[in-house]
Amino acid sequence: MFHVFRLGYVEFNTRDIEALKRYYTEVMGFSLVEEDADGRVYLSSSTDHHNIVLVPSTLSGFARFGLQYQSDFSAKDVVKQLAEIDIKAELKTDTKPGVPEVIGFSDPDGYEVQLFSEMGTAASGFKHVGIIPNKIGHLSLRVESAKRSVQFYEKLGFINTDWIEEFFGFTTCNTDHHVLNFCASPRKGLHHLAFELRNYSHLAHCMDYLGKHQIPILWGPSRHGAGHNIATYHYDPDENMIELFTDGDKYVKELDSFEPRPWHRDNPQKPKVWKTEDCISQWGTSFEKALV
Ligand SMILES: [Fe+2]
Repeated sequence: MFHVFRLGYVEFNTRDIEALKRYYTEVMGFSLVEEDADGRVYLSSSTDHHNIVLVPSTLSGFARFGLQYQSDFSAKDVVKQLAEIDIKAELKTDTKPGVPEVIGFSDPDGYEVQLFSEMGTAASGFKHVGIIPNKIGHLSLRVESAKRSVQFYEKLGFINTDWIEEFFGFTTCNTDHHVLNFCASPRKGLHHLAFELRNYSHLAHCMDYLGKHQIPILWGPSRHGAGHNIATYHYDPDENMIELFTDGDKYVKELDSFEPRPWHRDNPQKPKVWKTEDCISQWGTSFEKALV
């Protein structure tokens, strides 16, 4: 079987590629790795060839995402293994730079998922100016049924960590509290994309940096309940909601609980169903826009 272990990249369609390119290079501090013949822009915040892809389009918004997997089997065999769990997937080779083999399929809401095992490296690496997150932390999608989405991604090996009521499900494929989460919503699309920062002082510095670029904060910083990440939210130029966070819970699969932290109110802190009012802010901060 294959083992999905990481959210590798997220792709956005955009009507204004220059504005998003400026945001990712000058504000977020990503390296511009490559622009292909079709105008797609590949950006990296690590040694990966890309973590964000911007695709010129007539519509702006979330396009697709890539999950990295490890397997002793070939990509063709992984396609067969996916068929055995009722996921019809297609293997494509050399369709994009940096990723020689992509296994594509649609999830229950029609979101395009790409599995890949190998990713080329970005020679430029980390930049020195800008927010420069550690990594893409998690992707949050609006779905018809959070329960249906959680069950689908469990087939790919994801573990359901927490819930907010029945409308927001959290899943992980590694030790992070969540890598993908799903918000039941009447409309489809991105809920938010989150980038992990190094610590609270980095986050505070980033608030100053966003202010310098006239990018207003929508909410936070404050500490969430589920995941206990200290989070803050803003919009990118296309009004995709972006979260910057630090201090997220670490899941210990063997104990089915999270590494103890002084701010946990449960001891041990185990996956559970949270009430919305207990989950949004542990600091009592009011949450006006980010969940709309
Ligand atoms: Fe988040």
